[in-house]
Amino acid sequence: MKSAISPIVGEFPTTRLRRTRQDVWCRDLVAETQLSIKDLILPLFVCAEGAPREICSMPGVFRYSLQEIVDVCGEAFDLGIAAVALFPNTPSELKCEAGREALNPNNLACEATRLIKKALPDLGVIVDVALDPYTTHGHDGLVREGYVANDETLNPLNQIAVSLARAGVDMVAPSDMMDGRIGTIRKALDYAGFQRTRILSYSVKYASAFYGPFRDAVGSKACLGTADKETYQMDPANSREALREAAQDIMEGADILMVKPGLPYLDIIYRLKETFAIPIFAYQTSGEYGMLKLASEQGLIEYRKALIETLIAFKRAGASAILSYAAMDAAKILKKG
Ligand code: PBG
Repeated sequence: MKSAISPIVGEFPTTRLRRTRQDVWCRDLVAETQLSIKDLILPLFVCAEGAPREICSMPGVFRYSLQEIVDVCGEAFDLGIAAVALFPNTPSELKCEAGREALNPNNLACEATRLIKKALPDLGVIVDVALDPYTTHGHDGLVREGYVANDETLNPLNQIAVSLARAGVDMVAPSDMMDGRIGTIRKALDYAGFQRTRILSYSVKYASAFYGPFRDAVGSKACLGTADKETYQMDPANSREALREAAQDIMEGADILMVKPGLPYLDIIYRLKETFAIPIFAYQTSGEYGMLKLASEQGLIEYRKALIETLIAFKRAGASAILSYAAMDAAKILKKG
Protein backbone atom coordinates (compact mmCIF):
# COMPACT_ATOMS: atom_id res chain seq x y z
CA MET A 1 0.00 0.00 0.00
CA LYS A 2 1.34 3.38 -0.90
CA SER A 3 1.72 5.92 1.84
CA ALA A 4 -0.09 9.14 1.36
CA ILE A 5 2.74 10.97 3.09
CA SER A 6 5.62 9.50 1.06
CA PRO A 7 7.91 12.42 0.15
CA ILE A 8 8.32 11.06 -3.35
CA VAL A 9 4.88 10.72 -4.86
CA GLY A 10 4.01 7.09 -5.41
CA GLU A 11 7.38 5.71 -4.25
CA PHE A 12 9.47 4.75 -1.24
CA PRO A 13 13.17 5.58 -1.07
CA THR A 14 15.17 2.47 -1.99
CA THR A 15 17.85 3.27 0.52
CA ARG A 16 17.13 4.66 3.95
CA LEU A 17 20.38 5.67 5.59
CA ARG A 18 18.45 6.60 8.71
CA ARG A 19 17.61 2.94 9.42
CA THR A 20 20.98 2.26 11.04
CA ARG A 21 20.77 5.48 13.05
CA GLN A 22 17.65 4.58 15.02
CA ASP A 23 19.17 3.26 18.23
CA VAL A 24 22.36 3.73 20.20
CA TRP A 25 23.33 0.04 19.92
CA CYS A 26 22.99 0.09 16.15
CA ARG A 27 24.80 3.40 15.75
CA ASP A 28 27.64 1.89 17.80
CA LEU A 29 27.72 -1.23 15.61
CA VAL A 30 28.13 0.76 12.42
CA ALA A 31 30.47 3.44 13.82
CA GLU A 32 33.47 3.79 11.51
CA THR A 33 35.74 5.46 14.04
CA GLN A 34 36.49 4.62 17.67
CA LEU A 35 37.88 7.00 20.25
CA SER A 36 39.56 5.36 23.20
CA ILE A 37 41.19 6.72 26.34
CA LYS A 38 44.32 4.91 25.14
CA ASP A 39 44.49 7.35 22.20
CA LEU A 40 45.02 10.33 24.49
CA ILE A 41 48.18 12.16 25.49
CA LEU A 42 48.03 14.83 28.17
CA PRO A 43 50.31 17.88 27.81
CA LEU A 44 51.42 19.20 31.22
CA PHE A 45 53.24 22.39 32.22
CA VAL A 46 55.97 22.05 34.84
CA CYS A 47 57.05 25.04 36.90
CA ALA A 48 59.41 25.85 39.76
CA GLU A 49 57.98 25.71 43.26
CA GLY A 50 56.23 28.94 44.18
CA ALA A 51 55.59 30.01 40.53
CA PRO A 52 51.98 30.91 39.70
CA ARG A 53 49.85 27.86 38.96
CA GLU A 54 47.04 29.65 37.11
CA ILE A 55 47.38 30.18 33.38
CA CYS A 56 44.99 33.06 32.72
CA SER A 57 44.49 32.24 29.05
CA MET A 58 43.84 28.53 29.72
CA PRO A 59 40.96 28.10 32.17
CA GLY A 60 41.09 24.68 33.80
CA VAL A 61 44.78 24.10 32.94
CA PHE A 62 47.51 24.64 35.53
CA ARG A 63 51.26 24.67 35.88
CA TYR A 64 52.47 22.04 38.33
CA SER A 65 55.57 21.98 40.50
CA LEU A 66 57.77 18.89 40.67
CA GLN A 67 56.05 18.06 43.94
CA GLU A 68 52.62 18.12 42.33
CA ILE A 69 53.24 16.70 38.89
CA VAL A 70 53.62 13.06 39.88
CA ASP A 71 50.17 13.11 41.50
CA VAL A 72 48.58 14.56 38.38
CA CYS A 73 50.34 11.94 36.27
CA GLY A 74 49.09 9.26 38.64
CA GLU A 75 45.55 10.49 38.11
CA ALA A 76 46.03 10.46 34.32
CA PHE A 77 47.52 6.96 34.44
CA ASP A 78 44.65 5.66 36.57
CA LEU A 79 42.20 7.03 34.02
CA GLY A 80 44.01 5.06 31.31
CA ILE A 81 45.78 7.93 29.54
CA ALA A 82 48.72 6.58 27.54
CA ALA A 83 51.33 9.29 27.96
CA VAL A 84 52.09 12.81 29.09
CA ALA A 85 53.97 15.52 27.17
CA LEU A 86 55.93 17.82 29.47
CA PHE A 87 56.57 21.52 28.88
CA PRO A 88 58.74 23.49 31.30
CA ASN A 89 57.99 27.02 32.43
CA THR A 90 61.62 28.05 32.93
CA PRO A 91 62.17 30.78 35.54
CA SER A 92 63.11 33.93 33.64
CA GLU A 93 66.42 34.32 35.51
CA LEU A 94 67.53 31.01 33.97
CA LYS A 95 66.81 32.10 30.39
CA CYS A 96 69.57 33.44 28.12
CA GLU A 97 70.16 34.14 24.41
CA ALA A 98 71.56 30.66 23.84
CA GLY A 99 68.99 28.84 26.01
CA ARG A 100 71.74 27.09 27.99
CA GLU A 101 69.33 25.90 30.70
CA ALA A 102 68.05 23.43 28.09
CA LEU A 103 71.28 21.48 28.57
CA ASN A 104 71.17 21.44 32.36
CA PRO A 105 70.70 17.77 33.27
CA ASN A 106 68.73 18.88 36.33
CA ASN A 107 66.36 21.30 34.60
CA LEU A 108 62.61 21.10 35.16
CA ALA A 109 61.94 18.80 32.20
CA CYS A 110 64.64 16.30 33.24
CA GLU A 111 63.73 16.39 36.93
CA ALA A 112 60.03 15.91 36.20
CA THR A 113 60.81 13.02 33.85
CA ARG A 114 62.93 11.24 36.46
CA LEU A 115 60.26 11.60 39.12
CA ILE A 116 57.43 10.48 36.85
CA LYS A 117 59.27 7.48 35.38
CA LYS A 118 60.26 6.36 38.88
CA ALA A 119 56.71 6.53 40.21
CA LEU A 120 54.88 5.44 37.04
CA PRO A 121 57.19 3.40 34.79
CA ASP A 122 54.31 2.40 32.51
CA LEU A 123 53.20 5.93 31.71
CA GLY A 124 54.84 7.25 28.52
CA VAL A 125 56.81 10.47 28.89
CA ILE A 126 57.30 12.72 25.88
CA VAL A 127 59.29 15.97 25.93
CA ASP A 128 59.77 18.63 23.24
CA VAL A 129 63.19 19.27 21.81
CA ALA A 130 63.39 23.00 21.07
CA LEU A 131 65.01 26.03 22.62
CA ASP A 132 61.97 28.29 23.09
CA PRO A 133 61.26 27.54 26.77
CA TYR A 134 64.85 28.54 27.54
CA THR A 135 65.71 31.56 25.36
CA THR A 136 65.29 35.24 26.22
CA HIS A 137 64.10 35.93 22.64
CA GLY A 138 61.52 33.10 22.72
CA HIS A 139 62.64 31.51 19.44
CA ASP A 140 63.09 27.78 18.98
CA GLY A 141 66.67 28.14 17.77
CA LEU A 142 69.80 30.30 18.03
CA VAL A 143 69.38 33.77 16.55
CA ARG A 144 72.19 35.16 14.39
CA GLU A 145 71.79 38.64 12.89
CA GLY A 146 68.06 38.48 13.36
CA TYR A 147 67.66 35.09 11.67
CA VAL A 148 67.08 31.75 13.41
CA ALA A 149 70.23 29.88 12.37
CA ASN A 150 69.46 26.36 11.18
CA ASP A 151 72.70 24.38 11.30
CA GLU A 152 74.07 26.00 14.44
CA THR A 153 70.82 25.12 16.24
CA LEU A 154 71.19 21.43 15.45
CA ASN A 155 74.01 20.95 17.91
CA PRO A 156 72.11 22.11 21.02
CA LEU A 157 69.06 20.17 19.82
CA ASN A 158 71.13 16.98 19.69
CA GLN A 159 72.42 17.63 23.17
CA ILE A 160 68.94 18.32 24.54
CA ALA A 161 67.66 15.05 23.07
CA VAL A 162 70.49 13.05 24.65
CA SER A 163 70.09 14.81 27.98
CA LEU A 164 66.35 14.04 27.99
CA ALA A 165 67.00 10.42 27.03
CA ARG A 166 69.42 10.16 29.97
CA ALA A 167 66.68 11.44 32.28
CA GLY A 168 64.45 8.63 31.02
CA VAL A 169 62.26 10.29 28.39
CA ASP A 170 60.57 7.62 26.22
CA MET A 171 59.98 9.81 23.21
CA VAL A 172 61.67 13.05 22.20
CA ALA A 173 59.60 15.44 20.15
CA PRO A 174 61.61 17.90 18.04
CA SER A 175 59.25 20.85 17.62
CA ASP A 176 61.60 23.50 16.25
CA MET A 177 61.16 22.93 12.47
CA MET A 178 64.90 23.21 11.69
CA ASP A 179 65.91 21.34 8.54
CA GLY A 180 67.82 18.11 9.08
CA ARG A 181 67.18 17.86 12.80
CA ILE A 182 65.57 14.42 12.82
CA GLY A 183 68.62 12.85 11.19
CA THR A 184 71.14 14.45 13.51
CA ILE A 185 69.06 13.80 16.63
CA ARG A 186 68.69 10.12 15.63
CA LYS A 187 72.46 9.82 15.24
CA ALA A 188 73.16 11.65 18.49
CA LEU A 189 70.77 9.37 20.38
CA ASP A 190 72.19 6.22 18.79
CA TYR A 191 75.83 7.17 19.47
CA ALA A 192 74.93 7.93 23.09
CA GLY A 193 73.40 4.46 23.46
CA PHE A 194 69.74 5.44 23.20
CA GLN A 195 68.77 3.40 20.16
CA ARG A 196 65.37 2.68 21.70
CA THR A 197 64.38 6.28 22.36
CA ARG A 198 61.59 7.17 19.95
CA ILE A 199 61.39 10.33 17.87
CA LEU A 200 57.99 11.96 17.48
CA SER A 201 58.65 14.60 14.87
CA TYR A 202 56.54 17.73 14.72
CA SER A 203 56.89 17.32 10.95
CA VAL A 204 54.10 19.60 9.95
CA LYS A 205 53.95 22.51 12.31
CA TYR A 206 52.33 25.63 11.00
CA ALA A 207 53.17 29.23 11.94
CA SER A 208 49.84 29.49 13.69
CA ALA A 209 47.83 31.96 15.74
CA PHE A 210 46.57 29.04 17.84
CA TYR A 211 49.67 28.82 20.05
CA GLY A 212 49.03 32.01 22.05
CA PRO A 213 47.87 30.50 25.36
CA PHE A 214 50.70 27.92 25.27
CA ARG A 215 53.27 30.68 24.93
CA ASP A 216 51.70 32.31 27.99
CA ALA A 217 51.92 29.04 29.88
CA VAL A 218 55.62 28.44 29.21
CA GLY A 219 56.44 32.13 29.47
CA SER A 220 57.76 32.59 25.91
CA LYS A 221 55.08 35.05 24.81
CA ALA A 222 56.58 38.10 26.49
CA CYS A 223 60.06 37.04 25.27
CA LEU A 224 58.83 36.74 21.70
CA GLY A 225 57.04 40.11 21.81
CA THR A 226 55.80 40.97 18.33
CA ALA A 227 58.18 38.53 16.61
CA ASP A 228 56.73 35.51 14.82
CA LYS A 229 58.05 32.13 13.71
CA GLU A 230 57.21 32.39 10.03
CA THR A 231 60.78 31.91 8.84
CA TYR A 232 60.81 28.34 10.18
CA GLN A 233 57.27 27.11 10.83
CA MET A 234 55.08 26.30 7.83
CA ASP A 235 52.83 28.63 5.89
CA PRO A 236 49.14 27.74 6.51
CA ALA A 237 48.59 28.10 2.76
CA ASN A 238 50.63 24.98 1.97
CA SER A 239 49.83 21.29 1.92
CA ARG A 240 52.11 19.77 -0.75
CA GLU A 241 55.00 21.16 1.28
CA ALA A 242 53.66 19.16 4.25
CA LEU A 243 54.23 15.99 2.23
CA ARG A 244 57.86 17.01 1.62
CA GLU A 245 58.39 17.72 5.32
CA ALA A 246 56.93 14.33 6.21
CA ALA A 247 58.92 12.43 3.57
CA GLN A 248 62.14 14.04 4.76
CA ASP A 249 61.51 13.22 8.42
CA ILE A 250 60.65 9.61 7.60
CA MET A 251 63.88 9.25 5.62
CA GLU A 252 65.83 10.77 8.51
CA GLY A 253 64.43 8.23 10.99
CA ALA A 254 61.30 9.65 12.61
CA ASP A 255 59.10 7.00 14.24
CA ILE A 256 55.89 9.01 14.40
CA LEU A 257 54.83 12.28 12.77
CA MET A 258 52.78 15.07 14.29
CA VAL A 259 50.49 17.59 12.66
CA LYS A 260 49.89 20.83 14.53
CA PRO A 261 47.53 22.63 15.05
CA GLY A 262 44.82 20.02 14.77
CA LEU A 263 41.31 20.94 13.77
CA PRO A 264 42.12 23.57 11.12
CA TYR A 265 44.52 21.06 9.50
CA LEU A 266 42.51 17.82 9.31
CA ASP A 267 43.13 17.77 5.56
CA ILE A 268 46.85 17.53 6.27
CA ILE A 269 46.39 14.61 8.67
CA TYR A 270 44.30 12.89 6.02
CA ARG A 271 46.82 13.50 3.24
CA LEU A 272 49.72 12.22 5.32
CA LYS A 273 47.76 9.13 6.33
CA GLU A 274 46.90 8.38 2.69
CA THR A 275 50.48 8.88 1.57
CA PHE A 276 52.70 7.36 4.26
CA ALA A 277 52.56 4.18 6.33
CA ILE A 278 53.71 5.86 9.53
CA PRO A 279 51.65 6.67 12.64
CA ILE A 280 50.36 10.22 12.84
CA PHE A 281 49.57 12.17 15.99
CA ALA A 282 47.50 15.33 16.12
CA TYR A 283 47.96 18.22 18.52
CA GLN A 284 44.82 19.96 19.69
CA THR A 285 46.60 23.19 20.53
CA SER A 286 46.11 25.66 23.34
CA GLY A 287 44.13 28.03 21.12
CA GLU A 288 41.78 25.24 20.06
CA TYR A 289 41.29 24.26 23.70
CA GLY A 290 40.60 27.91 24.50
CA MET A 291 37.94 28.17 21.81
CA LEU A 292 36.12 25.13 23.19
CA LYS A 293 36.42 26.27 26.78
CA LEU A 294 35.43 29.90 26.34
CA ALA A 295 32.61 29.20 23.90
CA SER A 296 31.15 26.71 26.37
CA GLU A 297 31.58 29.10 29.29
CA GLN A 298 29.58 31.63 27.26
CA GLY A 299 26.88 29.03 26.72
CA LEU A 300 27.43 28.83 22.95
CA ILE A 301 28.34 25.16 22.83
CA GLU A 302 28.18 22.18 25.16
CA TYR A 303 31.76 21.48 26.25
CA ARG A 304 31.57 17.72 26.71
CA LYS A 305 29.83 17.03 23.41
CA ALA A 306 31.96 19.47 21.44
CA LEU A 307 35.16 18.07 22.95
CA ILE A 308 34.37 14.46 22.03
CA GLU A 309 33.28 15.57 18.56
CA THR A 310 36.63 17.28 17.93
CA LEU A 311 38.57 14.25 19.18
CA ILE A 312 36.55 11.89 16.97
CA ALA A 313 37.27 14.21 14.04
CA PHE A 314 41.02 13.72 14.56
CA LYS A 315 40.58 9.96 14.54
CA ARG A 316 38.36 10.07 11.46
CA ALA A 317 40.99 12.13 9.64
CA GLY A 318 43.60 9.46 10.41
CA ALA A 319 45.36 10.38 13.65
CA SER A 320 46.28 7.43 15.84
CA ALA A 321 46.71 9.56 18.95
CA ILE A 322 45.84 13.05 20.09
CA LEU A 323 47.54 15.50 22.41
CA SER A 324 44.86 17.46 24.19
CA TYR A 325 44.76 19.68 27.26
CA ALA A 326 41.30 18.24 27.76
CA ALA A 327 42.57 14.63 27.80
CA MET A 328 41.51 14.12 31.44
CA ASP A 329 38.06 15.57 30.78
CA ALA A 330 37.70 13.34 27.73
CA ALA A 331 38.89 10.27 29.62
CA LYS A 332 36.29 10.87 32.34
CA ILE A 333 33.55 11.26 29.71
CA LEU A 334 34.64 8.11 27.85
CA LYS A 335 34.85 6.12 31.04
CA LYS A 336 31.24 6.83 31.88
CA GLY A 337 30.24 5.81 28.35
C1 PBG B 1 57.38 25.08 21.07
C2 PBG B 1 55.98 24.58 21.02
C3 PBG B 1 54.82 25.34 20.80
C4 PBG B 1 53.75 24.48 21.02
C5 PBG B 1 54.26 23.22 21.33
N1 PBG B 1 55.66 23.29 21.31
C6 PBG B 1 54.62 26.77 20.51
C7 PBG B 1 55.35 27.44 19.44
O1 PBG B 1 55.83 26.86 18.48
O2 PBG B 1 55.48 28.66 19.59
C8 PBG B 1 52.32 24.90 20.93
C9 PBG B 1 51.34 24.10 21.70
C10 PBG B 1 50.02 24.72 21.88
O3 PBG B 1 49.69 25.82 21.44
O4 PBG B 1 49.22 24.06 22.56
N2 PBG B 1 58.23 24.77 20.09
